[in-house]
Amino acid sequence: MEDRRTILKSGLALGLGLRSLDVLHAQAEDPRKARPQEGDRFVFAFGPRQGETIGVDDVPLASEQIICYAMDPASGTVRDGSRLNQVLLLRFDPESLSPETREVSADGVVAYSGICPHTGCDIEDWSEETEFLICSCHESEFDPRDAAEVISGPAPRRLPSLPLRSEGGVLVATGGFSATIRFQKEF
Ligand code: FES
Repeated sequence: MEDRRTILKSGLALGLGLRSLDVLHAQAEDPRKARPQEGDRFVFAFGPRQGETIGVDDVPLASEQIICYAMDPASGTVRDGSRLNQVLLLRFDPESLSPETREVSADGVVAYSGICPHTGCDIEDWSEETEFLICSCHESEFDPRDAAEVISGPAPRRLPSLPLRSEGGVLVATGGFSATIRFQKEF
């Protein structure tokens, strides 16, 4: 009986593992679903400038986040095939950033995942008073000047960051997200 259980568990684990591999394979196959990568540019996700490349000067100083997607400059493919690819851009005085955050910023611009690690809502709100990012689903707050650390609310961890550089004023990713984009299931 024990052996049968073990075999069943192994089969299930193998099945889940294969499914995960399938998802990863699909991501690798479809550049629209692939996460942001080194060398990617950024384009506005919505609004009148949707699809336009974003430069440092397009990101307002100490103001609410711009929601964008990464774009492969070689093919022009915008990585908008997955909601989990949403990126938030914000700009601050570089001197006001924590050392860790300054290291991955470009001319004061910082980039984070736009997906809340609590139960996966889009992070759409911003507090003008505290200059924190806010997830309106359950009111988690994140400090974009300090690696998007959780300030309050149920989010279990900070937002993954995306390292940047500026090339002639154009924002470029110098790597992928600092952590896997994941969140808890809502029960
Ligand atoms: S999903 Fe963001 S706080 Fe719950």
